[in-house]
Amino acid sequence: VCRGFSSSAVRNVVIKHVTIIGGGQMGAGIAQVAASTGHSVTLVDTNEDILKKAVKGIEGNLKRVVKKKFADKPEAGEEFIQKALQNVSTSTDAGSVVRDSDLVLEAIVENLKIKQDLFGGLDKLAPAHTIFASNTSSLPITDIASSTNRLDRFGGLHFFNPVPVMKLVEVIATSATSQETFDSLLNFSKKLGKTSVSCKDTPGFIVNRLLLPYIMEVIRMYERGDGSKEDIDIAMKLGCGYPMGPFELADYVGLDTVKFIMDGWSAANPDNPVFAQSELLTKLVAEGKLGKKTGEGFYKYK
Ligand code: CAA
Ligand code: NAD
Repeated sequence: VCRGFSSSAVRNVVIKHVTIIGGGQMGAGIAQVAASTGHSVTLVDTNEDILKKAVKGIEGNLKRVVKKKFADKPEAGEEFIQKALQNVSTSTDAGSVVRDSDLVLEAIVENLKIKQDLFGGLDKLAPAHTIFASNTSSLPITDIASSTNRLDRFGGLHFFNPVPVMKLVEVIATSATSQETFDSLLNFSKKLGKTSVSCKDTPGFIVNRLLLPYIMEVIRMYERGDGSKEDIDIAMKLGCGYPMGPFELADYVGLDTVKFIMDGWSAANPDNPVFAQSELLTKLVAEGKLGKKTGEGFYKYK
């Protein structure tokens, strides 16, 4: 937590109580990892059904972790699961729970206005020391933070799907993020058992600035008829050693999220062919075929 003997070190926030807003695939995964590493977590979403599903998913994924980590010690494994679950509570009212939070981390839909409205409202309710962070894939942290009066206590914490497995967190500082806030976010990532990299507030940070153009080029390749989805996926798995082919990965990330990201970038850079739209992607999203989470995307999962 400390940065040498600097007096500013006392302002570093040790993150213990975390509010995670959005109980979808990312929010639930982050909640799982935070709860398993001894943080008290409140998971917030718009309705009880989503929250029930999220907690059930966390329990199922904790069992997967335990199967490996406590293979020879089932009792210790059960205790680990119960302890983690006890650290998770849920709420449909973010305003009432942020009062006790050291960190408010948002993982809701990839839409600037909705994220700004959320943080703008919470800014008035959260204590002064509370750090705000977004798990956005593609939106400028600076723009999200602009709806608040805590620019120095606002940063990005970008996790990867599936959160319990992927070891990386990108920690993003805007030009206004204080060193203390950045250090607190780095320390939190470390406590979660993740490796972090420092990122500037540039579009897509490091990973997505490279990954999304790759996924879009693959969709265009398929649209041109240059290869079947199956062959392209096999080619990238066996030719490059990637764990998933690009169509499998796009379905895994969520085609709505892929489209939200590309919509933003193509609007901001209309002349850059790397960010060009795809008719096929637009059609699939319009049909509600959002990938694995809805049972169909490029592939069927039922
Ligand atoms: N929770 C806990 N454990 C999980 C899990 C979860 N949600 N999902 C998988 N696992 C565990 C499994 O239990 C398994 O553990 P063991 O090795 O101990 O058996 C291990 O992870 C591997 O899982 P599986 O055997 O089920 O399947 P797999 O070998 O095909 O691996 C995968 C699955 C880890 C998802 C792998 O395919 C992979 O790494 N895919 C690429 C994922 C990726 O690139 N993610 C980044 C997406 S981009 C992003 O997230 C950023 C953005 O902003 C869009
Ligand atoms: P998701 O659709 O699985 O989950 C989003 C959740 O947010 C839903 O449960 C929804 O009900 C809830 N929600 C929406 N508006 C809300 C509000 N105002 N208040 C409370 N809850 C609200 O999406 P996801 O894949 O978990 O992505 C969430 C965020 O994480 C996005 O910003 C996305 O870009 C980013 N992200 C996604 C991935 C990925 O691979 N899917 C990886 C890293 C970052």
